[in-house]
Amino acid sequence: MIDLSTQYLGLKLKNPLVPSSSPLTASLDDARRLEDAGAAAIVLPSLFEESIHFEQKQLDKYLHSQALGNYEAESFQPVPSDYKGELDNYLDHLHHVKSSLNIPVIASLNGISTSGWIDFGKELMQAGADALELNVYYVAADPEQSGEQVENRYIELLTDLDKLINIPITMKLSSQFSSMANMVTKLQTSGANGVVLFNRFYQPDIDLETLGIKPHLELSSAEESLLRIRWIALIRSRVQLSLAATGGFHQTDDIIKALLAGADAVYLCSVLLNKGPEYCAKLLQQLQHWLEENEYESVQQMQGSVSQSCAIDPAAYEHSNYMNVIKSYRH
Ligand SMILES: Cc1cc2nc3c(=O)[nH]c(=O)nc-3n(C[C@H](O)[C@H](O)[C@H](O)COP(=O)(O)O)c2cc1C
Repeated sequence: MIDLSTQYLGLKLKNPLVPSSSPLTASLDDARRLEDAGAAAIVLPSLFEESIHFEQKQLDKYLHSQALGNYEAESFQPVPSDYKGELDNYLDHLHHVKSSLNIPVIASLNGISTSGWIDFGKELMQAGADALELNVYYVAADPEQSGEQVENRYIELLTDLDKLINIPITMKLSSQFSSMANMVTKLQTSGANGVVLFNRFYQPDIDLETLGIKPHLELSSAEESLLRIRWIALIRSRVQLSLAATGGFHQTDDIIKALLAGADAVYLCSVLLNKGPEYCAKLLQQLQHWLEENEYESVQQMQGSVSQSCAIDPAAYEHSNYMNVIKSYRH
């Protein structure tokens, strides 16, 4: 029997497949289906500090407008005492998922202020999350802000959180850092137990009729996995923290490549939204089959065996490949 287990963020996972934050993990029913299909852990959708503030503002506005009403209406409580806001609903969901599933549950947080990251991070830890994923979705558009200042935002955030959070912390990063290996090393030194490579930035679109800017979300394509595989291969032997791959993992071959490159876990989202939670079982079955065919005894045996430091041609992950790729094109 092939051992599919892997270590991720200090957690022993029964296999490397982890459904990432998405509407699927927002539903207890779908979370159960994911576990039944063999998912090794799940990452809940992000709790957004911004939307908690927005909700609070709306509520304040509503309460304020009520307070300006008639004298007789002053004792009237417009908000029921059992009213639950976004944070309460998130914590309830985390609690239900934790008590219904046997696999680890990773909470995800998208903050905007230092106090938000810290306070909500603590709430998620206290509610029983097995690990905390920081979804730092930051578009650095300020010309006054240097690359180093942008990097320091991440480092300071992690340093602050690491003092107060005693569950593993992983950071979901964008691919847009000048020196990815250096950035990941600094995150490791600042207390990160893992990084998730890479967040997908959704590009807003211009509506040609209204000239308004409209949000635009497209699910990923398998092609996107190559960027993740390359970076995992490049940094695997340079850091000790856990590496998860996210973005474009739709088929077993690409999952295998990420593991060969050195991923500890492979996140799945678009493929499961497209094909349903049960597809996780199919991917696992194909992974097992490939390991058998190629005479591996375990996932751990193959993990990192084609990382840059172990690859037959290490330079192929770096610049030399650029010239070869361009020259290989036939018109
Ligand atoms: C509808 C939708 C909702 C998502 N919500 C979140 C979220 O709340 N937090 C987060 O970190 N990522 C979120 N993601 C990103 C996914 O977790 C994943 O990292 C990304 O889609 C790339 O993986 P994929 O190629 O397997 O889809 C979302 C993606 C989709 C499509």
